[in-house]
Amino acid sequence: MPHLFEFTDQSWVPSSARATFFEILDLCNSRFRDYNASVANKAVEIAAEQGADTIVELGAGRAPITRHLAADPRTDGLTLVPCDLKPHAHLYRELEAAHPDKVSPIYESVDFSQPLRWDAGALLIFCAALHHVPSKQRPAILAALAEGDAAVAVFEPMRCSLPSIVSVFGAIAPALLLPVLGGTSGLVRRIFWCWLFPAVPAMFIWDAVVSCLRQWSDQQWRRQLEEVLGSSRTFTILSGWHSQIVTWAARTGAAAG
Ligand SMILES: C[S@@+](CC[C@H](N)C(=O)[O-])C[C@H]1O[C@@H](n2cnc3c(N)ncnc32)[C@H](O)[C@@H]1O
Repeated sequence: MPHLFEFTDQSWVPSSARATFFEILDLCNSRFRDYNASVANKAVEIAAEQGADTIVELGAGRAPITRHLAADPRTDGLTLVPCDLKPHAHLYRELEAAHPDKVSPIYESVDFSQPLRWDAGALLIFCAALHHVPSKQRPAILAALAEGDAAVAVFEPMRCSLPSIVSVFGAIAPALLLPVLGGTSGLVRRIFWCWLFPAVPAMFIWDAVVSCLRQWSDQQWRRQLEEVLGSSRTFTILSGWHSQIVTWAARTGAAAG
């Protein structure tokens, strides 16, 4: 399967269209589907199992998972670190101001395709993010992560399957309703991009279909993780018809899953 482009990854997409795109994503997974809350809940469970003191949300976009985690009393005492290749700095600032004791964003660009060093006490979460790396380059990223000490949880809200691909067309509803549900600040921008010149809903559906096609099957994940983790660290793959969770334990921690 060739690595088809996604609009999210293109630097020429105007920032106002990009902002609207990410709001649709947030609306889909926070209000039309309970996905972000369920990811946050699972992240809290894994962090507790692993004894993690930090949860890093990589490729965080609008940081929806950190937002849910910050509001959860079970994360009291943890540090929450949203970051992205293209950080949504104003949203990270708002989150940090609302939860100064917990949220500590990285405001510089963080490229997770590069080898990064994280402490054993960190739980690294990727939500709808790792598939942005071409399939051929993913093993090198997994190998670099496996060389580190941190626990990792990869959450993907779709699968490479016909039912999953068909279901993403349902995102047209939240995309067209965004101007109604998105609040007053930015309303003109949303009306422009979703109603007057509705390029962003079309871009969103394209990206969602391509995201499905980029997903790895359970077998592909298992093969890659057996290779990079060897027998020293356990991993878990949990798959539904429209989502997948892949976790592996911190180097010295208990098994994740
Ligand atoms: C589909 S969005 C998901 C955003 C967010 N995690 C969510 O679930 O709403 C993918 C995100 O991954 C980020 N991203 C893509 N490649 C990346 C890389 N190499 N390093 C860091 N972030 C990356 C993009 O900037 C974008 O914010």
